[in-house]
Amino acid sequence: MAPSAVLAPALALLAALLLAAHAAKIPDYIPMCKRDVPDFDKCLLNTVEVVRPHLAKGIPKLKVPALEPLTIPALEINRNNEALQVKAKLKDIKAFGGTGFVVDRLKTDIDKLALDVSVTIPELRVTADYDVDGRLLVIPLRGKGIFKGNFTNSKADVKATGKLIKNKKGVQYMQVKDLNVRLTVGGQKVRFINKGNRDTEAITQTVMNFYNQNRQQVTEIIMPIVEETVIAFMRQFANTILRSVPFSEILPK
Ligand SMILES: *[C@@H]1O[C@H](CO)[C@@H](O)[C@H](O)[C@H]1NC(C)=O
Repeated sequence: MAPSAVLAPALALLAALLLAAHAAKIPDYIPMCKRDVPDFDKCLLNTVEVVRPHLAKGIPKLKVPALEPLTIPALEINRNNEALQVKAKLKDIKAFGGTGFVVDRLKTDIDKLALDVSVTIPELRVTADYDVDGRLLVIPLRGKGIFKGNFTNSKADVKATGKLIKNKKGVQYMQVKDLNVRLTVGGQKVRFINKGNRDTEAITQTVMNFYNQNRQQVTEIIMPIVEETVIAFMRQFANTILRSVPFSEILPK
């Protein structure tokens, strides 16, 4: 499963939140939420909806990447533990459908710079080139080709807190302090189109059979890696966006 599968909605929401709150660079039609607005969370939800249609193409000025599809040029995953030893190179990862996210729950604590949000992505389509070598439990993993996955009702619970830093000129910026992401996937259909030799064709079949018969167990092994990868990406994306906007403009008084 490609990590970007679940990155899109969280990133989309984050982009929406930041974009919505930003005064100086964004168009007037986007409603801003002041710090002392009576129901800040409700205001933010409204803003997310206004911003949503703009996320597909991204907002270069604010360093928000295009999200339809969300594209990650390359990603390497190295793990070496008892259940899983793997070296995977993923290229040209694309996730479609992330901006169709539904916000199930949203709670902020402005004084603590804390955000607690749960989103569902009804349909997500992911493609990636893969080149993998390793072992999952007793099953060898080896091959290269194209991964295609369709995921329904993926859920992400995101808890984040921010911290304030000052740049050399004394301007305050926010950065991510703590970030925790829990992911669950509802339905999934995955396909590995092998482009390696006959050997890896057989291995690919074995892996798929094993996966189909041990979904729960495989998911428990894979998910923490997906979550870690998503967290690393989100932190990087968020910090990049946050560095482009002074804090006073993110949460205006
Ligand atoms: C995923 O959905 C698309 C569009 O609905 C479909 O063309 C494709 O075959 C599906 N892929 C898998 C792996 O089920």
